[in-house]
Amino acid sequence: MKLPELPSGIPRNLAYDSGRLSILDQTRLPGEQVRIEADGLEQVAEAIAMLRVRGAPAIGLAAAYGLCVALAAGLARSPALGLDEARQLLAEARETLSTTRPTAVNLNASLAWMLDGTDAPPRHARTAAELLAALERRALDWHVDDAHRCEAIAAAGLSLLPRKARLLTHCNAGPLATGGIGTALGVILRGHEQGRRFTVFADETRPLLQGARLTTWELRQAGVPVTLQADSAAASLILGGGVDAVIVGADRIAVNGDTANKVGTLPLALACARAKLPFYVAAPLSTVDPDLAGGDAIPIEERDGREVSHWNGARLAPRGIDLRNPAFDLTPGDLVTAFFTEAGVLRPPLDSQSG
Ligand code: MRU
Repeated sequence: MKLPELPSGIPRNLAYDSGRLSILDQTRLPGEQVRIEADGLEQVAEAIAMLRVRGAPAIGLAAAYGLCVALAAGLARSPALGLDEARQLLAEARETLSTTRPTAVNLNASLAWMLDGTDAPPRHARTAAELLAALERRALDWHVDDAHRCEAIAAAGLSLLPRKARLLTHCNAGPLATGGIGTALGVILRGHEQGRRFTVFADETRPLLQGARLTTWELRQAGVPVTLQADSAAASLILGGGVDAVIVGADRIAVNGDTANKVGTLPLALACARAKLPFYVAAPLSTVDPDLAGGDAIPIEERDGREVSHWNGARLAPRGIDLRNPAFDLTPGDLVTAFFTEAGVLRPPLDSQSG
């Protein structure tokens, strides 16, 4: 199967070919489109950790390709690499990749899909080269599968949203964040293509400004009307009747619907509850963690405090100030009106529906 088309002007975030992963460096957007041609594991791991590639599904995809990059580099160094050595190399690569971003469940789900299970390549390959070829096919399958999940998520969302709506979103859950059209933004982009009259408020999304830099850029490229606002302006817009619904993505969802997403999501859900407005989460079922009944055990990534105190190397806060920088927050499942998934519009519990 092929990857579905993206709106013209939005480049693919990831493209793998023959041991090289081409990564669109999202830290350089919207100013410039710079690609990193990663041919070593460390480059892929660094790109994930530094948010050059980001968004839960895209992180999982980069990790899947990262395994291929690591093995291809190993084979280039030692063409006579044995199968056991190749398996050992992959185990070490998995260790490196799996600790790059702790919150998105898609990361470890994709590594497990690549390496574990009865049909996974390490069980069946007879040579290291055969193992690499099988892993490359499997990563591409994951990519295509993720892209098709995005299409189904968009269809689910559009089945519930009206023809005309003012939508608020947070962070970036568009093509840059997935293997396809995106989750929350996929609903909006496909709806716009189908003639829906959607207007969008994009939260800037402190501290790394994924909303200001990426969401506004993607929506502009696609011709969707978008207004950028400070995160702190969102609650009063919601309570003042300025939006019809909020729609966001997710990094990990517990079975009861508790949802970890970019920090600043919880205040939107609370404001929607107060205003009696729908709060939607759009995500593939690969974002549901079937091992977690509730969200309390979801690891919330704590990032370098300098992301809060500095911007572009310039200090914003007094020297020596205490800092905290949780990258995500947890929205209780009972504040989520509905989940848009590839299995349709769902409400918790999500375990029996995951697949
Ligand atoms: O830290 P980021 O930019 O990776 O955080 C991304 C988000 O929070 C997204 O909303 C989430 O991963 C869903 S992306 C389809």
